[in-house]
Amino acid sequence: MSDSRQRWGSKAGFLISAIGSAIGLGNIWRYPYVLYKYGGGAFLIPYFVAAASVAIPLLVLEYTLGSKYRGTSPLAWARVRRNCEWIGWLPGFCAIFITFYYTVILAWAMVYIKYAATLAWGQDTNTFFFGTFLKLSDSPMQPGGINTSILIPLVILWGSAFLIMRTKVNRGLEWANKIMMPLAIVIIAIIIVRGIMLPGAVDGLNTLFTPRFEALYDPEVWLAAFGHVFFSCSIAMGVMITYSSYLPKKSEITNSASVAALSNFACEIACAIGIFAILGYMAGAVGKPVTEVVSSGIGLAFIAFPSCINTMGDAGVFFGIAFFLCLFVTGYTSFLSLLEAFAAPLSEKFGIARKKIMGIVCAIGLCASSIFATGAGLYILDIVDHFINNWGLVSVGIAQAFVVGWILKTSYIHQQAIQDSYFKRFFFGKFWIFCMKSIPFLMAWSLIQSTYTIITDGYEGYPTIALLLYGVLVIAVCAAFAFNMQGRKWTITVESPSIPRVPGRKE
Ligand code: PHE
Repeated sequence: MSDSRQRWGSKAGFLISAIGSAIGLGNIWRYPYVLYKYGGGAFLIPYFVAAASVAIPLLVLEYTLGSKYRGTSPLAWARVRRNCEWIGWLPGFCAIFITFYYTVILAWAMVYIKYAATLAWGQDTNTFFFGTFLKLSDSPMQPGGINTSILIPLVILWGSAFLIMRTKVNRGLEWANKIMMPLAIVIIAIIIVRGIMLPGAVDGLNTLFTPRFEALYDPEVWLAAFGHVFFSCSIAMGVMITYSSYLPKKSEITNSASVAALSNFACEIACAIGIFAILGYMAGAVGKPVTEVVSSGIGLAFIAFPSCINTMGDAGVFFGIAFFLCLFVTGYTSFLSLLEAFAAPLSEKFGIARKKIMGIVCAIGLCASSIFATGAGLYILDIVDHFINNWGLVSVGIAQAFVVGWILKTSYIHQQAIQDSYFKRFFFGKFWIFCMKSIPFLMAWSLIQSTYTIITDGYEGYPTIALLLYGVLVIAVCAAFAFNMQGRKWTITVESPSIPRVPGRKE
């Protein structure tokens, strides 16, 4: 079969883009908070267990599917088994839903870069963020009007994404990553070095890392670890399959997957250190314990951080701009990857030109993300994020590993994974096969637990109707689209003699 797929300009271009997808808001805005909330230093145990037994093995699987089966996520799965195509579509639809709210957080970061220049948030950063800036309504069911100060950056974000993504991957996407990722790393390094030199930094780090081992008995903590490594490494989202499909067929897999995952983990632990060092400084400056200045989730970046910057005098402006710029740049490359994971399969399946499909998707994306620019945006974002991470990604992970570990001949795919690799033994040998067989059960247990918690306790006190609408319905819509897509015709040849279908277990 002549292989006319687009190609990365170089292997380094692919790796930078894969790392660019992995390093994102999750590292800066999500991980420090997850680490702190779910047991401090003790969380590192479930985190590394999840990294070694789920993240790296699944990354290896995804790189194998993309590069050896020569297709974006749905095509690669269709080539593995015709009736598995939906496993490739489901993450694509989840990916586009993520972009709807992910871009809104990027839009906030853009506005906050401007605010940082004048410390426009004033002394009460909490009231400023929720009231003046977001104009937050009373409930997720009361959207109110669209906030124009968020809508304008959203237009810039979707517009610029279109301009970058309409060209071939090695021109637009790869170049954007090659420019933005080094910039992000430099900014992160400056923030960390500056952060740990501040007085009080040690208190922050003690608060972050002091282990609370009782957390390990809580299934929610393990679920958070599995959910987080999925989100953080951009797994089960179609991104890595699609990205690796632009590699040559004979590509080394295990090394690349390990480099991408480990760079991401190193980066997020470094970010947590930098952020908590700065929070430690702030706690000292305002005379409170660190636990009181740490707020949860988004509040960490948009409330605690601005307060912290307020206490830094002139350095605060520099620091504030660097922080929000970093949030923006790292998030932007992840956003582009999500867009690619959704748009590239559509272009491949229906034979629509890349430029056209990117135009349509970006226009729809802009309209959909405007919903998150309303007064109820933050609530909706919180619900969609929770359900996609805890149900969507986890289900795709289960499906992928279950099919490979239990339906197909596992050793066959394993052979593909290691055939061009330097490392074939131990971790990437029998252990990898063991992981494929155990991941579905491990993840199913997590899924059942989280579902049980949602049914019995709800989520964050939101009304049930809001959870059904923005959580359950969103996942159901993604699944319905995924199955619908499987039933439609491809405009290219799926079966090919050079890519044999994977035999079943008993064949
Ligand atoms: N990994 C990104 C982050 O940490 C988010 C992301 C998830 C990007 C899935 C692409 C796919 O922010």
